[in-house]
Amino acid sequence: MCGIFAYQWNKQALPILQRGLERLEYRGYDSAWVCVMDAQGSTKLIKSVGKVSELESKISKQTKGKEEELNAFTRGIAHTRWATHGVASEVNTHPHHDAGNHFYVIHNGIIENHAKLKKQLREKWYTFYSQTDSEVVPALLAEHWTGDLLETVEKVLPLLHGAYALVIMTTHAPNEIVALKRWSPLILWTAPDGFYCSSDMQALAGYATQTVTLSDGELVYIKNNDYIIKAEWKIIKKDLEKLDIKAMDESRGEYETFMRKEIDEQPAIIRRAFMGRVNFDEKAIHADATKYLKDKEIQKVVFVGCGTSYNAGQMGALWMQNIAGIDASAKIASEYMHQRIPTDPKTLHVFLSQSWETADSIEVLKHIKDKGGLTFGIVNVVGSTIATMTDCGFFLRAGYEIGVASTKAFTAQMINILMLTLFLWKKWSLSYDRYTNILHAMKTVPSLMEQIIAQEDAIANVAKEMSRFNNMFFLGRKYEYVVADEGSLKLKELSYIHSESYPAGELKHGPLALIEESFPCVLIAPHDGLFEQNMSSMAEIQSRKWKVLVVSNRETEWADRMITIPSAHPAVMPFLTTMVVQLLSYHVAKELGRDIDKPRNLAKSVTVK
Ligand code: F6R
Repeated sequence: MCGIFAYQWNKQALPILQRGLERLEYRGYDSAWVCVMDAQGSTKLIKSVGKVSELESKISKQTKGKEEELNAFTRGIAHTRWATHGVASEVNTHPHHDAGNHFYVIHNGIIENHAKLKKQLREKWYTFYSQTDSEVVPALLAEHWTGDLLETVEKVLPLLHGAYALVIMTTHAPNEIVALKRWSPLILWTAPDGFYCSSDMQALAGYATQTVTLSDGELVYIKNNDYIIKAEWKIIKKDLEKLDIKAMDESRGEYETFMRKEIDEQPAIIRRAFMGRVNFDEKAIHADATKYLKDKEIQKVVFVGCGTSYNAGQMGALWMQNIAGIDASAKIASEYMHQRIPTDPKTLHVFLSQSWETADSIEVLKHIKDKGGLTFGIVNVVGSTIATMTDCGFFLRAGYEIGVASTKAFTAQMINILMLTLFLWKKWSLSYDRYTNILHAMKTVPSLMEQIIAQEDAIANVAKEMSRFNNMFFLGRKYEYVVADEGSLKLKELSYIHSESYPAGELKHGPLALIEESFPCVLIAPHDGLFEQNMSSMAEIQSRKWKVLVVSNRETEWADRMITIPSAHPAVMPFLTTMVVQLLSYHVAKELGRDIDKPRNLAKSVTVK
């Protein structure tokens, strides 16, 4: 999603901003822009719809032979845009400026009252050139200009509603920059050679040391080689923090895509998740987070997340109920606030997010915190909003996921949820023997996953056939229904093939009407207590001449195509079947020549509600 990068002081800004844009690329975007300014307020702006590499080739064409001249441009702002208001086009690309070309603004988030503000300005005098909500900010700065940048920004701020991060430059005061945040992340890095500002910790990781993470409502005003931070119109002191995160490993090694690399990393990530947390000899789960929960009375667990993280929550709810014996449910974060759910102190709210800034999930977390609820985070990024706001939690230890479609973060979320489930296990729910069976089954997951990877050629062959269809169903029951949901989501986002997921038992209640030969089904049906029921569903499908691909550890002569997987305890089987649907979607997308790491229209971190 949108990304911000800004620099001010005494180095040539253009290469710094280009590097910043490259670091923001993994988030997903559809256009990029860079604007640099010299000490007299002259600007250079270069925009591009498409990849940062396209912007870079534009930059090198436009600046060829002018390298000396560029040394004067020692401040600038850069942005990757993921379209929300207005199509991906040069005109809608940030930074936006006012009619007089004096104010330049980059913006993440949404100005919710932009329509009203635009109407008011249009009625007075103003003509807007873009369809964006963001353009209203430079227009308002021009309208309220007092001759002082900080004062003007403080006059305009109360007029803006919504969640946003902004960085503002003006030709009237080229040595000044204002950056501010309300709900959308922003970090300042005070380096010996200048001030850097980004919406993404990752864009600074590896070289930033002394950083300030702005809180909601805070603003940083940079002038020459100094800065102040203000909150509610008062200057405040904020300590510099050490940015303690590793730089993203940006190399794909021998892999064609990051996604394929990340699929292979999964067994190692699961092994890493156990370290220091699961004692297989003592058959127990120990961690700081579990020490914190030890004396809490937990009667209910609610998982909150979006997309793939929500799917992990659905799996968690089933495990909690079937293994731990605790009432549990999963909620889609963007729907939570519409449901008027009472916050009970005996409910543990588990927040799931592979990134650190999913706006929908953070909104629910803030709400639960305000109500005094007990919160647990299962997240990937140390120091992230969700990690710092929750009472306790587990880190995924999965390393950065660069492929936009989540794979390793999903299985890492699942293993962490399973560990939490076993920790919360109630003796009256499941016998000790059955508890230890699951604990031991969990230990076998990484090596079983490696066996799935070894079957990649067979999966790729089936994927080749799947890629000829325009529609697909994913079916399963209980845990495997959740895998069907995840498989359907992966196929959609990677291949752009329409697919739906259903509990296999629901077919006869409506979806069967869609049956025709061109609408095949993936039935995930391990040989467990539900196998016979799944075979009945298959019979319903086949008697209507539908094609069925069965994913199972038991051969069935009725399947049109079969992917045979190793046997495993039903509670951990989803780790294996998930890998199958990941590889299937990957190979379908590859067959269709899709941009696997950056599917169209999608972003890695979704910072808007
Ligand atoms: C799908 C995918 C998304 C994310 C969702 C939540 O492959 O990646 O559905 O799972 O946008 O993101 P996080 O986990 O960062 O909160």
